[in-house]
Amino acid sequence: MPLVTRVTDLIGRTPLFELATTATGTRLLLKLEQFNPTGAAKIRMARAMIDDAERRGLLRDGGHIIESTSGNTGLGLAVVAAERGYRFTAVVDHHACKDKLRAMRAMGAELVFVADDGDDNLATSAREDLAEAMAAGQSDAYFTEQHNNDANAVGYYAVAEELLEDVERVDILLSAVGTGGSLFGTATRLRQLGCTPRVIGVEPVGSIAFGGPGGPYWQSGTGTPPGATIGTAVDYSLLDEGVKVSDVAAFATARAVAAKLGLMIGGSAGGSVHAALTRLEEFPPGSTVVTLVCDGGEKYLDTVFDDEWMRERDLLDAATEGDVHAMLDRYAPTRRDQLVEAR
Ligand SMILES: Cc1ncc(COP(=O)(O)O)c(C=O)c1O
Repeated sequence: MPLVTRVTDLIGRTPLFELATTATGTRLLLKLEQFNPTGAAKIRMARAMIDDAERRGLLRDGGHIIESTSGNTGLGLAVVAAERGYRFTAVVDHHACKDKLRAMRAMGAELVFVADDGDDNLATSAREDLAEAMAAGQSDAYFTEQHNNDANAVGYYAVAEELLEDVERVDILLSAVGTGGSLFGTATRLRQLGCTPRVIGVEPVGSIAFGGPGGPYWQSGTGTPPGATIGTAVDYSLLDEGVKVSDVAAFATARAVAAKLGLMIGGSAGGSVHAALTRLEEFPPGSTVVTLVCDGGEKYLDTVFDDEWMRERDLLDAATEGDVHAMLDRYAPTRRDQLVEAR
C-alpha cells in the first residue's frame, strides 16, 4: 500500500469476512466497513457529498457544513471538514452514542443538541428541521441533507466495485436501511456492473420505511423513526424485500458474534446478521449473501455490550443469544474443520 497524506486516502478496500456457510454451500459474507477511518461506512458518503457540493459550487473555501447526524455521518464529515478547512456543525441528539459525539468534537466539529441533557430519545425530524433552519440563515452554509442527497448513494459505488474484485458475484445483498444510501448505492453500482442481486433491506421493529406500526427502538444510526420523512435515498424500486428485526435479536447477535468469534460489530449490523442467519437456508443453494457491517462494536461498549444498560431496557435475552451461538456453530463447518486440521 502506498504512503498516504490524508486520512480520506484510507477510505475503502475494506475486508470481506466469511461468517457462515450452510451444508449446501450458501455463504454469508460480511463487508467489514469498520475498517474505514472513523470506524464506519459513512465516511464514504461524507466525502462524496462534499466532493459533489464543491463541484456544484455550493460550498466555497472556508464554508460551513451543517448536517443532522446520529453520529457516523458526522464523524465522516468532521474528517473531511478538518482536511479541507471547512467549519462543521453537527446537529445531534442524546440517542447518539456518546463516543461518536466525543470523537466529532475531538476533530473540531461543533455540536448542537436538539434535546436537553437526559432526554435520550431519537429526534431525527427535530434535528433535520434545525439543521435546515440553521443553513437557511447563513450565506456560506451548506446543509448536506443526507436523506435527500444523490451523492449519498454514489459514495457507496466503490463498495460494489470492491465486492466484485473479491467475489465472482453477489446473489443476495442484505443490509440495514437508514438513509438507504449504503444498500441502494451498492445495489445500483452492482447492477451497472452486470450483477443483479436480490436486495433485502433490514430495519428495526418500530421503524416505518417498510410499513408496520412505528415505535421507539435502540438500534443506532439505522431505520426511520415515526414522524421522520423517508428520503429519496431509499430507492424502493431496487428493494425486493424489507424485513424488520427487534432490538433484542439485533443486540443478541452482535454480542454472540463478539463472544464466539472475537469480531465486534455494531447493533445495526447485528440486526442484518440476524436476518441473514435466520433465513440462510431459504436462499438457493450455493448463494453468495453479502451484508454490510456499517460500523464496529467498539462504539457500543456502554450500550449493546453493557449488561446493565441492556437489562435496564429489558433487552438482555440469554435464550436469543444462545440461538445465535447455535446458528454460528451450525454454519461454521469450515472453521471447525480447519481447527481440527490445524491441531
Ligand atoms: C450504525 C449504522 N447502521 C446503519 C446505517 C444505515 O446506513 P444508510 O444510512 O446508508 O442506510 C448507518 C448509517 O448511518 C449507521 O451508521
